[in-house]
Amino acid sequence: MTKILNASREWVDARFPMTKMWDDHLAKYYAPKNFNFWYYFGSLALMMLVLQIITGIFLATNYKPDAELAFASVEYIMRDIDYGWLIRYLHSTGASFFFIAVYLHMFRALLYGSYRKPRELIWLIGMFIYVCLMAESFLGYLLPWGQMSYWGAQVILSLFGAIPYIGEDLAIWVRGDFVIADATLNRFFIYHVVAVPIILLGLAVVHIIALHEVGSNNPDGIEIKKNKDPATGIPIDGIPFHPYYSVKDIVGIAVFLIIFSAVVFYAPELGGYFLEYNNFIPADPMKTPEHIAPLWYFTPFYAILRAIPDKLGGVIAMGGAIGILFLLPWLDRSPVKSIRYKGPIFKVALFLFVIAFSGLCYLGMLAPTDIRTLFAQIFTAIYFGFFILMPIYSKLDKTKPVPERLT
Ligand code: HEM
Repeated sequence: MTKILNASREWVDARFPMTKMWDDHLAKYYAPKNFNFWYYFGSLALMMLVLQIITGIFLATNYKPDAELAFASVEYIMRDIDYGWLIRYLHSTGASFFFIAVYLHMFRALLYGSYRKPRELIWLIGMFIYVCLMAESFLGYLLPWGQMSYWGAQVILSLFGAIPYIGEDLAIWVRGDFVIADATLNRFFIYHVVAVPIILLGLAVVHIIALHEVGSNNPDGIEIKKNKDPATGIPIDGIPFHPYYSVKDIVGIAVFLIIFSAVVFYAPELGGYFLEYNNFIPADPMKTPEHIAPLWYFTPFYAILRAIPDKLGGVIAMGGAIGILFLLPWLDRSPVKSIRYKGPIFKVALFLFVIAFSGLCYLGMLAPTDIRTLFAQIFTAIYFGFFILMPIYSKLDKTKPVPERLT
């Protein structure tokens, strides 16, 4: 049996670099030996991407992208298809868990300066993934053709109208009609199931190739490649990804799946946070829901949009809040990467940023009142201040000396 397996491997290797790829990316990819809790979320994001694609394929086999049939086809999946409810809830709850993994993954980069030289491109590719992921879930949310699908998309697409001169025409072009209609549903369906997933998969592959070119960062923010064993050329503080981290990641996946299953089986809508109650009412273009809010992963940006009194100003601020994240690698001027060696100013700034981002997330879910708008404006100022002032405070901050080897 071993002989046959070896011969098959050699046969493939002579025609395709299978063993070389296995070695380059797993068995001989040397990762820093001090990865901690925060390093689970890359592989978890990858797992969620695969899960969304698989459950999405099964949903698409019974879903009908037609304004007359879409809502009923989702109910049919939920009630009549064997385990249709499970597939649907895995996909809808999966979207939220995907964002949880990605937000924690991005936060890890903030903690340990993983976006700094030489990993700027990994961060930029990550940001393109993040924007595609937002587009993907926005497109997907229209498909059940519920009240929130309809009116949520109406609010967001009407923002195009705020762009001077071309805005209204652009909005009509994107919708394919004067209002959200069957034409919109048809195009959103094909973008959601084919176009954006292909881009997402491609970007995820490029993301990991870029990471493996420069090597992983770590909680100390030390470049392990600078300290190699002269005899073997292997980083002294590195360990092979497989089996060490492949096994560690399986533990993370098991814990994550337990929490995920608990939500899927016992609270798939999570009190309206993961699936809004209004979306169990079929879309009615004649009846606007009293309170329209996007799902939680969009609400920080939605709160920024509403915090600015002027519509165009709000759109610019919302776009700017995402755009400024792309610049992060060039805003941080600290001589050290990791929060472990950064000084008190950066720590306080990051703390305030987390409060502001969470506050905006919460406020974006609620109907606006004067006091809530005031808080949203304060948090918006902190959000932008964190990035705009970073070149100054990250330079002024008193840092600690970074050790030669991993701690
Ligand atoms: C589909 C979504 C994503 C997937 C599947 C993914 C996957 C991965 C994986 C497997 C790793 C290596 C393991 C780890 O460091 O945790 C990684 C590293 C990294 N990712 Fe992502 N990622 C995604 C989204 C993002 C986003 C949105 C950003 C930021 C905007 C980002 C920034 C980074 C950075 C900076 C690293 C290097 C971390 C380090 O070496 O410390 N990723 N990613």
